[in-house]
Amino acid sequence: MTRRFRASGTLRLHDPNQDIEWSKGSGCVLWDSAGNKYLDCVSGYSANVLGHCHPDLVAALTDQATKLNFTTGGESCLRQQFEERLCDVVSHSISHHAQECRSLGNLKAWISTTGARAIEIAWRIAFRRRPGGLVTFDLGYHGRSIATAYASDTAQQDCLMSGPSHEVRYPILFPRVEAGSNRPLQEACNESLDAFQKLLQTHSGRLSALLIEPAIGSRGYYFAPADYYQRLVALGREHGLVIISDEIQMGLGRLGGMIASHLQAWCPDLLVLGKALGGGMMPVSCVIGSSEIMDQLRSGYESETFAGSPLACRIAIETLRILSSTRVIEESRSLHDELRLGLASALPRSSVAGLGSATVIDLADAVMHQPTRGTQSADCSATGMGTIAAYKIAGQLRENGILVHVTGSQRDRIAIIPPLNICPAEMSRVTAEFVNAWRNFAQGE
Ligand SMILES: Cc1ncc(COP(=O)(O)O)c(C=O)c1O
Repeated sequence: MTRRFRASGTLRLHDPNQDIEWSKGSGCVLWDSAGNKYLDCVSGYSANVLGHCHPDLVAALTDQATKLNFTTGGESCLRQQFEERLCDVVSHSISHHAQECRSLGNLKAWISTTGARAIEIAWRIAFRRRPGGLVTFDLGYHGRSIATAYASDTAQQDCLMSGPSHEVRYPILFPRVEAGSNRPLQEACNESLDAFQKLLQTHSGRLSALLIEPAIGSRGYYFAPADYYQRLVALGREHGLVIISDEIQMGLGRLGGMIASHLQAWCPDLLVLGKALGGGMMPVSCVIGSSEIMDQLRSGYESETFAGSPLACRIAIETLRILSSTRVIEESRSLHDELRLGLASALPRSSVAGLGSATVIDLADAVMHQPTRGTQSADCSATGMGTIAAYKIAGQLRENGILVHVTGSQRDRIAIIPPLNICPAEMSRVTAEFVNAWRNFAQGE
């Protein structure tokens, strides 16, 4: 379909689905304006964690739209309810998964709109506690506002004023093994921790916070074991850094639990949620921490016109209710376990990875281990065979009505991140179609 108009700033040329013009969605299914139907395995990078037009969310939205949408000054009772609900969800998660975390005392939540704004707010709080730079992963992505671009591995940095970025962001390597390598991930974890330790020895006085994602999302879907995170956070704490967990993409179910850091048995000082919080309907994000640290944000230091509007709060309360009172997170996680097993039985085992409801296939690795395609190309990254494989497979899946996310700095990885309420039949179809597309590629078709 030819697009009639699209502002060039919004074009994502690497995205094989960016030319589609959407007309409607329901559950895990999307339709384009020509009436073609697609199973959505991208889900707005987790914003559509409950799929499209979830009936309970539609009912809440339409009901609220007839009551109260937006106010200035004062507070709506919905905002109060939402903040309490958020703090309950976090306390519940701590008591179930992370009792070993130090006591956080009374929790407080600050409501915002987008992920980038919430990260800026967390950053501001951390900076008030302890001025200095941010330690982030080299593959970290925290948004596209000017401030968050400084904290991210994005080309956007190029268009900012030259100067401060090297004093703002201190990147450490996120542990990963190169495609085709047999090096244990543990070795990469140790190297990353050693690098952090060295940084702390030389720069500790210049650092404010450790800003981390519990798994790398936008920059390629990479995962590290829980004990890596626990050791990283312990080192940061030893040196007094504020620990910020950016769970905008991986929180609220994607990694298999409501709060990803707690599932990995570590506790941030500041927890940032976004995307899924708005149920795919409203931009809502938040920062949560103990009142002791949240009170660093003195009155009048932050404001956003639309933050915490009654409409947004109502949707977020309803989203949290569905996520915490149903088995949607657990059921999705076991479907992903089956998906990974199914993929690993047909592709080289080392190329399939994931955690909870995030699954990724490293096509560069798959091609290198593949007897026919792999031997044609001794150096897969140089020839881009992994990238070719990723786009061919994504293209065939799209022809068969399944949308996946091509990711990674070389665009040689495919993430499968459908809404959590994908049903078993839909997931079996994804597995079978992916295996089929891979076999076609491997056989040179
Ligand atoms: C981990 C992470 N942090 C922050 C952001 C920025 O969120 P937003 O696009 O809502 O500003 C994103 C968006 O993809 C993200 O994945």
